[in-house]
Amino acid sequence: MLPTFMPVATQAAIKGLTPQQVESLGITLILNNTYHLNLRPGIKVLDEAGGAHKFQGWDRNILTDSGGFQLVSLSKFANITEEGALFASPFNGEPTMLTPEESISIQHSIGADIIMQLDDVVSSLTVGPRVGEAMHRSVRWLDRCIEQHEKSGRKDKQNLFAIVQGGLDPALRDQCLDAMIARKDQVAGYAIGGLSGGEEKDVFWRIIKQCADRLPSDRPRYSMGIGFAEDLLVCVALGVDMADCVFPTRTARFGVALTFEGPLNLSTPIVVDIAVHNSRFDTELGKHTRSMEPIDKNCPCPTCASGMSRAMLHHVVTIETAGAHAVTIHNLVFQAQLMGGARDAILEGRFPEYLRSFFHNYFGDTG
Ligand code: GUN
Ligand code: ZN
Repeated sequence: MLPTFMPVATQAAIKGLTPQQVESLGITLILNNTYHLNLRPGIKVLDEAGGAHKFQGWDRNILTDSGGFQLVSLSKFANITEEGALFASPFNGEPTMLTPEESISIQHSIGADIIMQLDDVVSSLTVGPRVGEAMHRSVRWLDRCIEQHEKSGRKDKQNLFAIVQGGLDPALRDQCLDAMIARKDQVAGYAIGGLSGGEEKDVFWRIIKQCADRLPSDRPRYSMGIGFAEDLLVCVALGVDMADCVFPTRTARFGVALTFEGPLNLSTPIVVDIAVHNSRFDTELGKHTRSMEPIDKNCPCPTCASGMSRAMLHHVVTIETAGAHAVTIHNLVFQAQLMGGARDAILEGRFPEYLRSFFHNYFGDTG
């Protein structure tokens, strides 16, 4: 299985871009969110439209996340019970329940090519019995999702993925892997969830390796919420095939262009704090004022190919939507080149050299 990055289109649109533009960049798989699409436009509209592909004019692939993670991260009132995730409706404050069955049935209406089980997600920094409880519940919820999916008759149209949980505890991860691998015939792929929440990198890598080593090699392995270039390549090296993250598109709107020489902060000083992750790469915010270079002269994206200068982008990026749009396009192409480069390198048997050269260039001349 070969690596691919999925841009996030929470509201059935990658912020600032039309689906046609996304497709013209060669992107073939995007992520939509069940939670958001269920609220607006809602299932009735999606059913009438014939699903999210038709609704958004996107005939390539869609993966939908199941909603639980968004509920917990967006709703102040989310409360997990065995039945499902209880939350206050953003419309009227009424208690509303998202069950595993309902999540799958909403994902059937959306019609995504890949659908995710509803999982019980805790922050990777959570410790204590709640981590084990969430893992065991995610296994029980997987069974309910499988049952709902099997009886829908949509198994040949939509692919259900399980999500391995268990926090940063290798023993819990192993138990979850045992249980979920035993359901291999009922699932089309596996995700590794519950990471990238502020844990130490070496713990994150160990969990990815543990999961990727044990997950069946004939099923795709998807690490959820991973988007920094260096993390993506380490995940790929450890056996991951798919990843998604808002990072490349969100950071673009804050004026940060991703390049093979490290992120380039084109933003105006007003928004410098946004780029904390990148600050060590480029702190001289004024230096782009007169630069007539493109973001990356080797980049094939429409922004760089058009000759739009760093000076121009610096001038508009956080002020005019066209600036954010131009950098978003560049960052999506960067992400695709990064993963496409990894794919070609794997196929041609030179992945170690690809990694070496990437890290050498990205982090400067340190070897
Ligand atoms: N997005 C990032 N991490 C997760 C996770 O653990 N579960 C789900 N459903 N979505 C995620
Ligand atoms: Zn570019």
